Parts: sequence; C-alpha cells; structure tokens
Amino acid sequence: MMTSAEAALRIEGLKGEIERHNRLYYQEARQEISDQAFDVLLRELIELEEAHPDLVTADSPTQKVGGAPIEGFTQVRHAVPMMSLDNTYSEAELEAFFQRVQKGLGREVVECVVEPKVDGVAISIRYEGGVLKHAVTRGDGQVGDDVTMNVRTIKSLPLRLPAGVPQTFEVRGEVFMPKAGFAKMNEERDEAGEARFANPRNATAGTLKQLDSRIAAKRPLDVVFYGLADAGDAEVGAHSEVLELLGKAGLRKADLVWRAETAEALVLAIRELDEKRKALPYETDGAVIKVNAFGDQRELGATSKAPRWAIAYKYQPEQAETQVLAVDIQVGRTGALTPVARLEPVFLSGSTVGNATLHNFEEIERKDIRVGDWVVIEKAGEIIPAVVMVKKERRTGEERVIVPPVCCPVCGTEAKKDEELVVLRCPNPDCPEVVKRRLEHYVSRGAMDIRGLGEQVVGQLVDAGLVRDAADLYQLDELSLARLERQGAKSIENLVKALRESREQAPWRLVFGLGILHVGVTAARTLLEFFGSIDQLAAAEVEDLLKCEDVGVVVAASVHAWFREERNVALLERLRAAGLTFEQRKVAAASEVFAGTTWVITGTLSRPREEMAEAIRSHGGKVSGSVSAKTTYLLAGEEAGSKLEKARKLGVEVLDESGFWGKVGEGEKGIKTDLFG
Ligand code: IVH
Repeated sequence: MMTSAEAALRIEGLKGEIERHNRLYYQEARQEISDQAFDVLLRELIELEEAHPDLVTADSPTQKVGGAPIEGFTQVRHAVPMMSLDNTYSEAELEAFFQRVQKGLGREVVECVVEPKVDGVAISIRYEGGVLKHAVTRGDGQVGDDVTMNVRTIKSLPLRLPAGVPQTFEVRGEVFMPKAGFAKMNEERDEAGEARFANPRNATAGTLKQLDSRIAAKRPLDVVFYGLADAGDAEVGAHSEVLELLGKAGLRKADLVWRAETAEALVLAIRELDEKRKALPYETDGAVIKVNAFGDQRELGATSKAPRWAIAYKYQPEQAETQVLAVDIQVGRTGALTPVARLEPVFLSGSTVGNATLHNFEEIERKDIRVGDWVVIEKAGEIIPAVVMVKKERRTGEERVIVPPVCCPVCGTEAKKDEELVVLRCPNPDCPEVVKRRLEHYVSRGAMDIRGLGEQVVGQLVDAGLVRDAADLYQLDELSLARLERQGAKSIENLVKALRESREQAPWRLVFGLGILHVGVTAARTLLEFFGSIDQLAAAEVEDLLKCEDVGVVVAASVHAWFREERNVALLERLRAAGLTFEQRKVAAASEVFAGTTWVITGTLSRPREEMAEAIRSHGGKVSGSVSAKTTYLLAGEEAGSKLEKARKLGVEVLDESGFWGKVGEGEKGIKTDLFG
C-alpha cells in the first residue's frame, strides 16, 4: 500500500487530471480520452480516497454525488447586490434604450454585447484560493440562501479553478435544467408515480432548495455564467473580457454572443438570437443587451433596481389553442372577484396549462369570451397564462355567455364595482375567503415568514372559527390547534414556535404583511427605514410620507388612510399587545467612524470577507471591489496580491486586521456592540 504522502500526491494529480478532462468535455465538447479511460481515473481516485479518508477534500470530483442532508439554509449577504434588469418588449423600446445610452455617454457609437437571457435561477458563486467556496441564490438581491451543497453537484461546474486565472473571485450566472434533461426527468417521475414538474425553471428552483444534496445530484442541473461580482486580482475592463476570463476559468458561458455598435445592429442581433434560441439546450425568454466597456457602464450608473447600462429584451411568448370548459370565480385578498378560465389542458412553453386568468369581467366582455369557446392563450410574464383572443370561426352556437356575479360566491354579500368601475369586489371584510387570502399573505415567506402555516392550515383555522385576523394567530396554543385535523403533535409544536418567533420579525415585514393596498416589500422597507417605527409611520401625515424617497401620492394616500381606519387601529393594538415588534431595531450602527470612507478588502482574513464588509458598513463605511483613487483604506489580510500593490502605488492607506479593529474601537469609544451577534 502507498504511504499517506504518496497517496496525497497521487490524489492531487488525479484530481487535476479529472478536472481537466471534465473541462474539456463540458466546456469545449472535446474528449482526449475515452469514457472508459476516464472511469479508470475516477475509480482510482475513489479507491485511494476510501483507503485514505483523511485526504478527501471538498473540491474532489468524487464529491459531486452530494452529502448528508442539512437542517436549513444559511443566509449570506451579497458583497455586491444582485440587481435585476429592466425589460423591453418591442424593437422601438430597445432603440429608445440605445438612445438613452448614447445620450448618457454623449456619443453615437457605443459598443454593446447581446447574449441570451437564460430562464433559470440566478446564482453568485465565489471561489477562494482556487476552490469553490460558496454558491448563493439571489434572494431579495441583498441576502440570499447558501445553496453550495446543491450547486456543488453540477457536473460541468469546476470545484477547483485551473492555473492562470484569479484564484479568488466571484462569478454570477444562471442555474438551469437543460430542456432534454428536464423532459427525461419528468418521464421518469411519471413512471415512478411522482408529480411532474411544471417547467424547467420551477424544477431548478425546487432542486436548489433541497436540503438533501443527494437529490440535487440526481437531477440534471447545469449553469452558465454571465458576469463577475468581484474580479479578484484580474484586470478586466469590459464585459467581453469577462467572457474571455470565464472561458479561461473553465466556467460555462453563453453559447451565443453578438457585438453591436448601433441600434440597427442591436435589432439584427436580437432577431437572429430569436431564430437560434430554440436550438439552445436551455430555455431562454429574451436577450440581454449590455454596454461593453466598464468605463461606460460606470458613467451610466444604475437606478435603485437595475443598471442603466443593460436591458432585457423579452420575446413574444409562445401561444397555444384550447377550449374553455368553465369559468370559476376566485376571491382575492382585497375582495377582488377574479374570473378564471378552466381550460382543456394544453402544453405551452414547457408546461401543461389547465387554467388561465381572465383578469376581470370587462375584459371578458371586450374579448367576448364564452364557455365552450376555442381560445388562443399565451404565458404573460411566462407564469400565469392569459387568453389572447377567441377563435370565433370555431363557434357552434352552443357557447354560453359569462355573466358577472351579483353576489360574492363565498359569503353571498352583494358584489360592488370599485372606483374605476373595473374590478368587482366582495365588500365584506369578514368574508371567509378574503380572510384566508389576507392571512396567507400575512404568514407568507416575504412577509412574516411563519413556517408551517400554509394555505391548508390557514383554511382549517378560519373554517374552524379559530382565527379571523392576524392578531388571532397569537392567541393560538397547543390545545386549540389540537382540534385541527391532520395535525400531529410535532407540527403543532413547530407552529407554536414559529408563531412565537414571528413576534421578533422586523416591523417592515409586519407592515408588508398587513396588506396595505399598494405597499409592497420595497415600500414597506423604505417606510420603516425612514420612520423608524410603526407608531411614527402611523402618525405620519401625507406630506411626511411623501418626504420618503420612492413614495408617491398613491402609496402615501393609501398608507395614510389605512392607519386611520378604526378597525386597523384596533388590529394594530392587539398585535402590539401580542408582543410584536413595532420599533425598527438599530442595526448595530455601532458608530459613524467610517462615514464617508470607501474600503477595499483583499487577502485572507480571520473572518469571511462578507463579515468584514458588514462590519465596515455598520460603522458607516462603503465597501468597493476595486482599488482606485476614491479608495480611502485597503484592509489587507495574508497573501494580499495586486490590490495591495495598486493601493501602495496610489498612496491608499493600508490596514491589517488589528489596525482595522483598532479604528473600530476608537469609534465605539468604549460602547460594547456585538457586531457579529
Ligand atoms: S446580466 C445587473 N445576463 O436575468 C443584472 N442576466 O432580469 C445583470 N439573466 O438576475 C444581469 N441571463 O438572473 C444577465 N445573460 C444574462 C442573463 C441574465 C439571465 C437573469 C439574471 C438576472 C435576471 C435579470
């Protein structure tokens, strides 16, 4: 038998060789050795690792089979937020985008890159010291889930980077399921009597959320990359250089790329992409157009949501023909009565469609949709299909006209048209269906995030008369919950715990969860950041509300009115009495000692970089990815490379970790704050 040292050497050699063949196979579609020869290498590695378990590392190709299940996902803050893109739907809108870019840069010719918009799940992957460190989902753009265990199982993804590229950098891309792999997987699920996945994107999202990575390892996940969050010590000055770097790093990138310098060339590129995208192995829902040079990108900047230097162009969704079997009425959170068409199931853009929203009764009348009609449907925003038009030539005379309901189908209250006379509503705030929708929203992940309280349990609670509003939830105990059907002791215990914990949720979640008309997550967050507490927000006059950035008259009026309605005031008081959090917690705003300073972090530190960055931010500083004349401090750990050099050249003050904590201490002036608690 080999000695441990010999084994270590051979294992390293094998890992390098296997990674190289993987790279050739997955990136360049080339094979230097036969499948059998590859298997011999892999088997030798497996055997050596079995004989020397202490030599198994996370970056070994043998680790792609997944590991033991985990309890839940850790949340990771993105060092650079993951933004989204603005959408355009016509060539004219695309030309308008290009004109804005030309105007912004003050010149005619601007080099752009056009690439496919992959319809998958966004991911940010960080390599440190050449090894895959973590993979984090987009989440809310600021904080995402650490799904490294699952992403690690992606066959084409190198766990270790080759030499000659930065060993520490962060790449952004899209995880997807190839069309072929998805179809095969669904067939197998059918055979196993398991439920089919609706479409590749849902299947991808569901797979990334698996707590057991062995499940992910069995599913055909793949990934393409389209950008960098942190270039490490690489000098890149344009998107095209990013693509080159990705290639060198063995990371799969977009299969089709165009360069265009004029509006005409852009239009030609998106048309050509539309022709070719059907042959791509993954689903695409559009093109992404990016200004190439980073200098130009910086000059154009970004809005709070999306960069001004890039835009998505969405292709016309695919259409299908089917028959309307019936029309049901759905009661929404605001009492809106929405007609929904039940359809003869039909396959459309990757999934089987059984119903379509009809929006409202005016639309039914305008389009003259009748039960029994043959209709053309398409996926609006690719999720909920909509009826585009009726095939009147196929009518037989048997079709039935759809009449708007006079009463709410659930509680029988007379239905009312809203001010704009479009939406028909059930005006009864105690309508059981409205109450259910409102509670479902309150407990949902984006709001109070009360796990174990899904649609079904909420339904049971309302039907049993146990809960009528959010405050009633906090009166529930083991005893009352035991009355529910199909609820075991364990799930009841979990539910009580989740409810107790939800009292600590940030007040913006509560405000969002209350379902105030026009107040989405972003508005709720902004409002609470501005006013600091629910009480301050409740007391605010319309003009105070308007002082808050991004809050317009519609939101301001709605918020103002909501807090002045007696029944809402009473609800808030009961929520307060139940111990919910009304005050925005001060985020360890330990001090302002770094206010006005810009930091760059480099090298290996005793804590993850994100934590150090968070520490800097909590003391009022900004963190940037690259050293420039604007950099105030470089925080340098062990083995700092080119950034340290550049900082020295520019005369930027360099601090090591102890120097950094020394400065933090000065700012805190003896106040103890638990930064990482
Ligand atoms: S660039 C600042 N390029 O589309 C955002 N995104 O709607 C830069 N996506 O979150 C994104 N293919 O998940 C970019 N070639 C591509 C893309 C792409 C798909 C996704 C990505 C992003 C979303 C924006």
